[in-house]
Amino acid sequence: MATASERLNRVMPSKFPTPYTEIFALGSQLFFDPVLSGNDNIACATCHHPALRSGDAMSLSIGYGRLGLGRLREVVNGNAPKACISRNALALFNLGAWEFSVMFHDGRVHLNREPMYGVAMPDDRTLERTVPTAFAAQNILPILS
Ligand code: HEC
Repeated sequence: MATASERLNRVMPSKFPTPYTEIFALGSQLFFDPVLSGNDNIACATCHHPALRSGDAMSLSIGYGRLGLGRLREVVNGNAPKACISRNALALFNLGAWEFSVMFHDGRVHLNREPMYGVAMPDDRTLERTVPTAFAAQNILPILS
């Protein structure tokens, strides 16, 4: 079993790509900003909120067309979405570290030598350039969906 200091070492800065300060600040802001969603009403943090341990505390995530966080998320103006997401939102803490090479419940995004740019992606979502980690590749998908 790892000691407390061994566990702490796992999240040292050397375990992550070097952050560019400007990109880091932009990413932090966009994470909480619904501007990335098609209809301006949902942000990454809606389903991955720090107050809910970077998840949404739901067994199945509720997407656009509602207001609020987690179990308090409710329909607005009778405008219920046609479908829920069929999986729960995973926690995101530290996933940018080099060691995390597989993303999603089913691992559909993962580091792999065969595909172009070294990351296996869903067929209709191929990468157009190199990204530093599987986490960076995954982050493109919520915006596209
Ligand atoms: C509507 C809710 C919702 C929103 C909004 C959302 N996510 Fe997610 N996220 C999920 C769900 C559900 C999963 C698990 C999906 C699966 O495994 O198929 C997930 C999975 C992930 C994962 C994979 C974690 C792992 O351990 O494999 C990452 C990373 C992630 N989301 C980042 C983001 C980012 C970045 C944004 C914004 C650009 C975002 N999410 C917006 C619900 C959401």
